[in-house]
Amino acid sequence: MSSPLSDKTIFITGSGGVLGTAYVSTLLDNGATVVASDLPGHRADAMKERFGSYANFVYYDLDVSAEEEIEAIFKTVQTDGLNPNVVLNNAAITGELLMGAGKSFPDFANTSVQDWEKTMRVNLTGSFMIARQMDRDIVGKYPAQLINVASMYALNGPHHPIYEGMPFKSFSAYSATKAGIHGLTLWLAGYWAKRDCTVNTIAPGAVFNGHSDEFQKRVGELIMNGRMADPQEIANVMMFLCSENARYMTGQMINVDGGFSGW
Ligand SMILES: NC(=O)c1ccc[n+]([C@@H]2O[C@H](COP(=O)([O-])OP(=O)(O)OC[C@H]3O[C@@H](n4cnc5c(N)ncnc54)[C@H](O)[C@@H]3O)[C@@H](O)[C@H]2O)c1
Repeated sequence: MSSPLSDKTIFITGSGGVLGTAYVSTLLDNGATVVASDLPGHRADAMKERFGSYANFVYYDLDVSAEEEIEAIFKTVQTDGLNPNVVLNNAAITGELLMGAGKSFPDFANTSVQDWEKTMRVNLTGSFMIARQMDRDIVGKYPAQLINVASMYALNGPHHPIYEGMPFKSFSAYSATKAGIHGLTLWLAGYWAKRDCTVNTIAPGAVFNGHSDEFQKRVGELIMNGRMADPQEIANVMMFLCSENARYMTGQMINVDGGFSGW
């Protein structure tokens, strides 16, 4: 019997992060060809080290904020004999990446236009440029799927008190980009439907990544099932969205958040 994703070639941006790594592992194990990409650096190196021995894994450096790199990437991938039929807009500036380890987080009044624009450029403009390149190189040539990655903080506001005294905060530009990316999903869904390309948004909830007991307690009280997610629990739903089983679904946001958005 063939594997559930053996007919899928899945291109992922920002694939070396916490969730990206779980997606790569799960998609590879279910028979997909995974075309991973990220900024050059320690995450990319760790990913190449971990998955480099898989025959169905390839990796490319890609900065999603660089227009010329995005214009080149699908051509390079296709020249290398790969034809992605699923694309994951997963790369993002998260709080930790924006500030860098150890720096204190600005409050809203002191948020710089530079940080706001950097977040917009990577999270939203980067996703737009990937989608635009899909339109140019893939959509209409063969059936395809785009999955945009939002967040539990796209259509729901954060409960700010849970971040008091924490080394990280939720930040305004992040929420704005994550709401915006679902707007892109909705716009594209109708635009691409007749060309056999679906577009959906996944909105992960709070994913455990070594958070303190206190933070887990605070955020857990806001989640119906009372706890943060394991990355694998998000990857399981991503696997479904990448599969043919999701073919009749387009323009939707799937919340995978333990019920955070469901109260
Ligand atoms: N972890 C969570 O709790 C959570 C919750 C909701 C949504 N999300 C979303 O899921 C996605 C993955 O998150 P994660 O937890 O793995 O985050 P992460 O910070 O671990 O990974 C983000 C990845 O994006 C990459 N990246 C940053 N700037 C880039 C650029 N200019 N070009 C290419 N790659 C770039 C980073 O190198 C990193 O590998 C993001 O879109 C994030 O917003 C995460």
